[in-house]
Amino acid sequence: MNTRVCPASADSLSLAARLLADGALVAFPTETVYGLGANALDADAVLSIFAAKGRPADNPLIVHIHDTAQLEGLCEIPPMARPLMDAFWPGPLTILMPRTPRIPDCVTASLPTVAVRMPSHPVARDLLKACNLPIAAPSANRSGKPSPTTAQHVLEDMQGRIPLILDGGPCEVGLESTVIDICHGTPVILRPGGITKAQLESVLGTVDLAPSILRPLGKNEVALSPGMRYRHYAPEGAITLVTGSEEEVLQALPRLYRQAVADGKTACVLCFHEHMEALRACHPHDLGSRLAPQETAHRLFDVLRELDAEHMDCIYSEVLPPEGVGLAVMNRLGRAAAFHTLAAKDAGKGADKA
Ligand code: TXA
Ligand code: MG
Repeated sequence: MNTRVCPASADSLSLAARLLADGALVAFPTETVYGLGANALDADAVLSIFAAKGRPADNPLIVHIHDTAQLEGLCEIPPMARPLMDAFWPGPLTILMPRTPRIPDCVTASLPTVAVRMPSHPVARDLLKACNLPIAAPSANRSGKPSPTTAQHVLEDMQGRIPLILDGGPCEVGLESTVIDICHGTPVILRPGGITKAQLESVLGTVDLAPSILRPLGKNEVALSPGMRYRHYAPEGAITLVTGSEEEVLQALPRLYRQAVADGKTACVLCFHEHMEALRACHPHDLGSRLAPQETAHRLFDVLRELDAEHMDCIYSEVLPPEGVGLAVMNRLGRAAAFHTLAAKDAGKGADKA
């Protein structure tokens, strides 16, 4: 199959809408990451999403809408949903709601809830309006790769697998939406994202965090969100998160880098913009300013893709406080590192003695 990449225009949007109505897949930009869309009411079309991504069938999809009237007949709307929709839609918030039988089982992996989101990206909104269908769309990466934040990333993963990628430029947020479960008592954030815990609490009162956001799932632990079971965003090399004071980390990163290189490995560091100069001998990759976690969110997946393109073996990364958008960054970076963490003050001291 030939994969076309088209800038969003009246013509490409109507082609995309026709493809979706005919049961084909279309990749499109959202404010978070690019999505791989299919008509959510067409089970065969939805199954082809799983095939194109190589995604396990037990990992459910998010349904995208442009108007809350589209929820009619798809799900029940719990009382907490309305204030959330009013405050954060359109935008990077996905809400779990009890589903109706109209949604094919393959969309929800047979769970009793459906995840719904109204994106704010103008191209996503124009596409959703043009086809006027609820669109099931996971991130448009091959399963296990970082989510795509540019049309080029989508092409790398989906060339020959889908007919059309709508190019809307780089995604603004850069990490996937916040997923919240409001179906059982106290609301729970299953996946942190662009809408923060504090923002949600300003509308709902107390909001809990799913326990496995900043640590691996335990052996017999059930994932509240099936996606949390899988090692997402895994680069080919091993990422180590290096923690400690700014001074300790700036001293440890060169030690760790030199040790890896002495061991014959390809190595690099992921550091904040302010440290690029100090770490210039350590093949640094820029995570954006340490004072602006939204910059790190915006760049992270692009940086993770670069690591694979450069076939890095050992990657040492600075960390952010897990607060606000920093929580979403540390959830993705933590999972990419399989939560492998080293205290800077002890790290790599052997390298300089040798
Ligand atoms: O920003 C985003 O959310 C992007 C864009 C394209 O909208 N989409 C996205 O979809 O990230 P995906 O499929 O990559 O991630 C959806 C996450 C998965 O972790 C999945 O397990 C969870 O949402 N999820 C979906 N439906 C669920 C449900 N009914 N119950 C629990 N978790 C659910
Ligand atoms: Mg994904």
